[in-house]
Formats: sequence, structure tokens, C-alpha cells
Amino acid sequence: MTKKTYYISTPIYYPSSNLHIGHTYCTVMADAMARFKRLCGYDVMFLTGTDEHGQKIQKIADEKGITPQEHVDEIVSGIKELWKTMEISYDDFIRTTEPRHVKRVQYIFNKMYEKGDIYKGEYEGWYCTPCEAFWTETQAVDGKCPDCGRPVEKAKESAYFFKLSKYQDRLIDLFENNPEFLQPDTRRNEMISFAKQGLEDLCISRSSFDWGIKVPIDEKHVIYVWLDALSNYITALGYPDDPEKYDKYWPCDVHLVGKEIVRFHSIIWPAMLMSLDLPLPKKVLGHGWLLLEGGKMSKSKGNVVDPVALIDRYGVDALKYFLLREYTFGQDGLFTNEVMLNRMNFDLANDLGNLVSRTVAMIEKYNDGTIPAVKGDGEFDADLKEIAIGAASKVEANMNKFAFSQALEEIWILVRRTNKYIDETMPWVLAKDESTKDRLDTVLHNLCESIRIISILIYPFMHTTSKEIRKQLGIWYADVEWKDAFVFDMLGMEKVKKGKAIFPRLDIEKELEELEAMKPSAQPDEPPTQFKEEITIEDFDKIDLKVGEILECKKHPKADKLLVSKVKIGTDTRQIVSGVAKHYTPEQMVGKKVIVVANLKPIKLRGEESKGMILFADNKDKLEFVTTEAQNGNNVQ
Ligand code: MSP
Repeated sequence: MTKKTYYISTPIYYPSSNLHIGHTYCTVMADAMARFKRLCGYDVMFLTGTDEHGQKIQKIADEKGITPQEHVDEIVSGIKELWKTMEISYDDFIRTTEPRHVKRVQYIFNKMYEKGDIYKGEYEGWYCTPCEAFWTETQAVDGKCPDCGRPVEKAKESAYFFKLSKYQDRLIDLFENNPEFLQPDTRRNEMISFAKQGLEDLCISRSSFDWGIKVPIDEKHVIYVWLDALSNYITALGYPDDPEKYDKYWPCDVHLVGKEIVRFHSIIWPAMLMSLDLPLPKKVLGHGWLLLEGGKMSKSKGNVVDPVALIDRYGVDALKYFLLREYTFGQDGLFTNEVMLNRMNFDLANDLGNLVSRTVAMIEKYNDGTIPAVKGDGEFDADLKEIAIGAASKVEANMNKFAFSQALEEIWILVRRTNKYIDETMPWVLAKDESTKDRLDTVLHNLCESIRIISILIYPFMHTTSKEIRKQLGIWYADVEWKDAFVFDMLGMEKVKKGKAIFPRLDIEKELEELEAMKPSAQPDEPPTQFKEEITIEDFDKIDLKVGEILECKKHPKADKLLVSKVKIGTDTRQIVSGVAKHYTPEQMVGKKVIVVANLKPIKLRGEESKGMILFADNKDKLEFVTTEAQNGNNVQ
């Protein structure tokens, strides 16, 4: 019998810089769902990847002095490494720079064009000439370029447009008549009012930069990154040239996305699919953000949380548990170390860890390490059993609503009930009296059954811990199967084996202090500073740096960019030409005490002699004076 399929995707991440814990949140949810569905017998397709084109990536690469491809290759290998560390079970990882994606996006563009849904028009936006970048009204705050802060001006370029307006009514109809398509309802209502305000046609090509997929009918343009990126959900399935795989998994069961990109997934993407005459995804789910006390995580604020550092200290499972248990899907949540450490200590080390270690220790002590068979029923057994065998369907119901936190809460109801069962039945008292040996056996058996069920239920969230528990219970040989969580009597005669504590207890005060000390300091969102090739002190000694004072300055008679200065260095006065007319007037130059490369070979610049060079600091396209308090004529060394 062919298995039912389940297709789940994460957004494809921008490889602008390394991912932080906020990014991992979505992938961890998708991973738990993929593992859950596999466990329930589905043939799962779990897709993630990277969105590698666009102006922003090109700019970062330019600043780093490397090609965009080199830049993305480096970051993407780090992202793949992160997913490996986090044991993310994706089935495919698509990169938008891969040839399989590129050729299929071009096909998609052509098909939409042939349908008559793409036309050539004029794109008008705010343009920053030095950055060669177009910005939208909202991006160009106060008429300034968001990147360099200089004024932007209205400009036009020819571009291709997608007739998004044509699909407005169908989209509104989709949101209103198929509420399951877009959840939570708050997002759906936002999209309904957004669409009702009127959808404008969408500019889907750019010609002011070239890091993108070429428009197949006009190579001067590259395809807009969102059209390129959204297509990944079907290009990864081989659309259009691998119909078998595509037909098997499409339409997608769920696109998991952050709330700020719901609009792209619920308006642009469905409209593209309508244009292509393809079925729509079954569901788009918008999750909330993980926030820090200072607001949104951002590298420039220095408040990103590095998932790898947390994994190194606490392990993957503890981190995944915390992310899935603490936050409510769809809502924003505050990340603090304290909340995280409390969850790890109370839920994992105390509740779950203790339950397992106490039970295994008692079986070793009271029954030579063998799980005893059940010998009749006693008080509390029925209640424990009922909760244990009822948990799986409650977990299932919550998982199907993406209520990860409630699903885990249902499991922890069983964990806590089982701990309570130990307190109620007091095996250490039963062990003292030979006449209660049968009761002791039953109690120990029931504890193991309960823990066995817990090991299945936690598998989608913490598969390594699940396996470790099963190893300690002596059932490491058996596959984890969801159906086994509905039965209580499966064990008997297995040999338990005490292992290390599955979650060590943490000294919260100490951890808080150490985590605080590890916090990255605020650093601007820019690539690392580049340095030139090493030189020796002898090399440096050859450069004669001296303090000089600008006595006079005038514009170069023949060159707009140059200023001609008279500079006094000690007893010597000479002429130096500098390419700074764009930044300073001659009046601003006069009187400045500057550092001069005094032994640079004299040259003539457009007819004016220049003997030496005045040093300036390159402050993002604005040259700043390197002024000094030192005496005129001093050596700089
Ligand atoms: N490349 C686009 C997605 C294209 S999908 C066809 C993109 N990339 S992103 O790297 O900026 O963001 C990827 C996802 O990470 C988004 O869903 C975003 O919401 C999520 N998150 C980024 N920071 C986050 C938090 N602090 N908290 C939770 N999720 C966050 O957008």
C-alpha cells in the first residue's frame, strides 16, 4: 500500500550572515512535525534551503571584496553545518543558485508570460545613485537611502510586471471561504483587509543589479528575488520536468513561515500558482517571533542568541524542548536565559530525568535489573494507565493544530503523573516486605510501561533522548512506533541498564552569570574588516610620514575632483594635489593639520605637480581628515 504523503516547508533563509536562534525556531518546529508525521507512517517531504539572490547579498559580497557566489557558499555551508548540529531531518535543501532551480524559475517566468500575466512597464521608485539601488516609499525613510543615508531621488527604469491585480478577487475568495488556508485568524484578517484595499501589479524584474536569475526573454533584467524564492517550493519537487515527484507531493500540506512574510506566501505565491494553473498549498501558517528584552534580534544591536553556543552547553534536545514548549505558535515570545534554564532544570532534569534514573535504579536494586512482569492490579494503576494510553491521541490532536507547546504539556502530564505514582506506591516500602513483592513487581513494571510510552511520545521533539531512555530500559532494539504508545502491557524480562543522567541538573545562578559573560558585544551589521597583506617593519620604515599644515588651497583649474594645496612640513613648503573636491571646499582644507606621505615620488596631475599625499580615512564614501594635535614637521612612526 502506498503511504500517505506529507509535505512541509520552512522559508528559505537569506545567507546574509549566520543564522540566530530566531531562525532556528521555525526549522525546529518543522523538524518536530516532520518526525511526528514519519512516526505516524507518512511519506514525508521536509524542505528547507537558502534564498541566495538579490541586491542585499550582492552588496555584502562587494563590501567583503568577494563574489556573491563565494559569499553565499561560505554562509550556506555554515547553515548546513548548523542543521547538522541541530539534527534537522530535512529531505531536501534547495539553494536558489543551483542550476536545477534556475532553469525551472525561468520556465515559470516564461509560462506566466505566455499566459499573458507578465507585461513590460516602467518601475518608479526612490533611487540612490551611489548605491545603485531602488527603494520603496517605506524603505526610503525621510527620503534617505536606508543603506548609506544619502538623499534618494525619484527614478524610473523599465521592468516586467506580474498582473497581481487580476487575482485579487480569487484571493479574497480564498481567504474568506477557506479559512484553513491561512492561519492564525489574525493573519488571515490582515490579508483580507490588505487585499481588499486593492492589489497593485507587482514589479518582478530588476536591472539596477545583476545578482539574480536572468529574465529569459530579456537578459538585461534579473527576476525579482521573491518570485525566484517562492518558486523553490515546486522547483525542489522537480516542477516541471519531474512530474512524478511533483505529483506525489504537491500541493504542499503546509508552508511554515514567520509572520512578516505571510503576505508573500498568501498573496503573491498563490497568485503565481493561479497564473501557472497549479493547485494551491493546503495551508500557510504564520508563526510569531522570538524577541529579546531590547526588541527584535539583530546583529547590529549585538543581541543575537547563537544556537550553537547553547547547544554546546545544554545539548540539542534541551534547546529544542525549550523552543517548542515555551512559545505559543503564532504569538511572539520573549527569550530569556532564565526562562530557558528553568525549563531545562524543572521539566527535563527534575521531572523527566529523575523519573528515568529513579526507575532504573529501583529495578537494579529490587529486581536485579530485570523489568518484572505485571502481577495483578492495585490502587493508582488504573489512573496511571488511563493517562498513559490516552496521551498519544491528545498529543496527536495538538500536533495537528501545530500546538507544540500543548502537545508537550500533554506528555508532561504523564511524566508528572508517573512521578506521583512513585510517591503514591512507595516501592522502597514495598521492597522491605517479601509479602508485597508482587505489588512491587507490578509497580516497577507499570513505571517502565509509562516511561516506554513517554519515550515514544517525545521522539518527534527529542529523538536522541528518546533513544537514550529506550537504551536504559533495555528496549533499544525495538523501532519507535507510534501505535505502541496506545498499549500499556508490552514489557517484561528486559534488562535495564543505568546510563548517564539524561539531563544533568544545572546551577542556574552560575549558568546565568556565564551566559551573561558570553553575550556578544554590539557590532554593526557589516562584514569583518579587511586587512592588506602583511609587511615588515623595514617595509614600513620606507614610508616617511610627517605632520603638515595646509596653508592655502584652491580648486584644480582642469579637474573637478581635485584640490591643490600648499602644505608646510617643518621648514619645507610644497604643493600636494588631493582627490577630495567632492568632500571638501578649499576653505575647509585651509588650516588643517594633517598627516602627509612626504617621500612619495612627485607626479603631475592634470598639469599640477603633486609632491606627497595627504592621508584621509575612508568613511563609507565620505573621506574624513586624519588630523593631529602634533607639531608641524613631526615624524609619524
Ligand atoms: N528569504 C526570505 C524567505 C523566502 S521564503 C520563499 C526570508 N529570509 S530570512 O532569513 O530573513 O527569514 C527567514 C525566516 O526566519 C522568516 O520566516 C522569519 O520570520 C524567521 N525569523 C527571523 N528572525 C526571527 C525571530 N527572531 N524569531 C522567529 N523567527 C524569525 O525572509
